Amino acid sequence: MFNTNRRQFLAGTSALAGLSFLSLAGCSKNNDAIRIGFMLPYTGTYAKLGMAIENGFKLALSELGDSPFGKTIEFFTVDDESNPAKATDNANKIMTRDNVDVVIGTVHSGVAMGMIKVARETGSLVIIPNAGANAATGAMCASNVFRTSFSNWQPTHPLGRIMVEQGHRRSVFVTWKYGAGEEALASFREGFEAAGGEVIKELFVPFPNVEFQAILTEIASLKPDAVACFFAGGGAVKFVKDYAAAGLKSSIPLYGSGFLTEGVLEAQGESAEGITTTLHYADGLQNAKNLAFRKAYRAAYSEEADVYAVQGYDAGLLLIKALQETSGDLSLKAEAISAMEGAEIDSPRGSWIMSRAHNPIQNFYTVRVENGINNVVGTAWEGLEDPASGCDL
Ligand code: PHB
Repeated sequence: MFNTNRRQFLAGTSALAGLSFLSLAGCSKNNDAIRIGFMLPYTGTYAKLGMAIENGFKLALSELGDSPFGKTIEFFTVDDESNPAKATDNANKIMTRDNVDVVIGTVHSGVAMGMIKVARETGSLVIIPNAGANAATGAMCASNVFRTSFSNWQPTHPLGRIMVEQGHRRSVFVTWKYGAGEEALASFREGFEAAGGEVIKELFVPFPNVEFQAILTEIASLKPDAVACFFAGGGAVKFVKDYAAAGLKSSIPLYGSGFLTEGVLEAQGESAEGITTTLHYADGLQNAKNLAFRKAYRAAYSEEADVYAVQGYDAGLLLIKALQETSGDLSLKAEAISAMEGAEIDSPRGSWIMSRAHNPIQNFYTVRVENGINNVVGTAWEGLEDPASGCDL
């Protein structure tokens, strides 16, 4: 389901109120326009994540007013379906056919790797608003590729130590079997073992399957002290509910990277209560920027913001740095890149800076679900920087 022919203009007195879809024939480039492409999942288990990113991004841009730098903004979208097999084609469509000035994408690590390969050929500016593939800001890093979210190494790096501190030494790790889950597991193992823990079993389900019965039965018979996991979006809802329904919640505490309970708490209900995670954001962060952001997001979209909305919003703030430096002319690529490299982002997650490899250096929080809210119960790691192995930027 592709929407690449839809162009969306920011116009009128309020950027958000003025959003309307216009279909135009042809793709000729209008120099009075800033062309922005979204390559995101709009269908499948990560559909809600894609929409939150787009919403957050547009909220940031709306802060620029009606016609930033005297220009209109045109939006192009492609539904990448979280399907790595279609990533190269989709990236080519948006970068080459639609010829956008910048691509905001994507959520799924495997799709992101395909995008990056194309971006390294086309030189297109890319801002990754979620996908954590370590190589994106590691061995495959590139001057034109930036990330406003995290590397998969980051969120689970502090998790093992926290579990040991809470008295759990024998753990099972459960995940979808693809890049993001495997990298989250590797990082968890590193931290957990360093703290004296032992991963007694790794359990996998293929992405995006949600048939968890077999692994829940296995967990019950293994009787670990705790379970750690990586799931997100629709899959996270199902896993958390199935875990509770299997009667495991009270005897074997559930942990994970914070994606497990982000944007899905309402759907998970009671089954999520007490889950502890580590993440660079939590709904309950009590700083002025987060409170204002959540209020503005609620007013604009009648929904609660989550980490994906924040990452999209921060992608917008990062792009604004580039637009300010170039007076809205992103063809001045060197200037745009240098502005983004030096960026300090005043984010709802707390302010963060861009690493040499173009990944956020940021705080990670210990988060616990209490009364239907992701509450911050501590700082798990201050100013955590991804090792960026193999990046020679
Ligand atoms: C990923 O594929 O990198 C990914 C997807 C969803 C998340 C986190 C990471 O919530």
